[in-house]
Amino acid sequence: MGTMDATPLAAPPAAPDEAALLPILIAPHPLLKARCRPVGAGDADKVRELVARMFATMYKAPGIGLAAPQVGALLRLAVVDVMPDDRKAPIVLINPEVVAESDEMVPHEEGCLSLPGQYAEVIRPAIVKVRYTDETGARREMQADGLLAACLQHEIEHLDGGLFVDHLSVLKRNIIMRRLAKDQRQKAR
Ligand code: NI
Repeated sequence: MGTMDATPLAAPPAAPDEAALLPILIAPHPLLKARCRPVGAGDADKVRELVARMFATMYKAPGIGLAAPQVGALLRLAVVDVMPDDRKAPIVLINPEVVAESDEMVPHEEGCLSLPGQYAEVIRPAIVKVRYTDETGARREMQADGLLAACLQHEIEHLDGGLFVDHLSVLKRNIIMRRLAKDQRQKAR
C-alpha cells in the first residue's frame, strides 16, 4: 500500500460531464493484464485529472465502474457509480482493497467496458468490506452488498490485471473472447 497523508488527492467530481473523454482499452490489451502500483502523494495532480476524465468516460459509455488500467493508467484507482435510486452517487476508490467478504456467494450478470457487448454470470461473495482512500485523501471503509458489492470486486480486480471472464471456464472465456474479437473486427470495417 502507498503511504497516504491527509492532503487531498483529487477534487470532488464536480463537473464530470465537462472533462475530456478517455479512450477505453479493449481486451485482450496487454495493459489490462498489468498489476497497478499504489497511488502515492506525488500522484495528486494526475489523479485529480484522471478522476474527472474517468467519470466523464464512464457516464458517457455508459457504465457503472471504470478502473484506471482500462484507460491505460497503471494506478490503483477506480471510479464507481451504481446510481442507486437512479441518482448519481459517484465513488472514488484510491488504493482500494477488499478487507472482508461474506461466505455467502451470489451470481450477478457482469459486463465490462473493456469487453463491450459481452456479458456473463459471475459468482462472487455477496457482501464485502472495502477499505480505500477517497478523493479528499480520507481513509474510508465501506460495506456493500448487491450490485455495488459485485461492482467493487470487479473494479478492484482490474487493478491486479483481472477481468470478469477470468472467473469463467476456459470454454466460456474463449467463446466470449472470440466473439469480442469478431465484433471489434466488424466495427473496424
Ligand atoms: Ni470492467
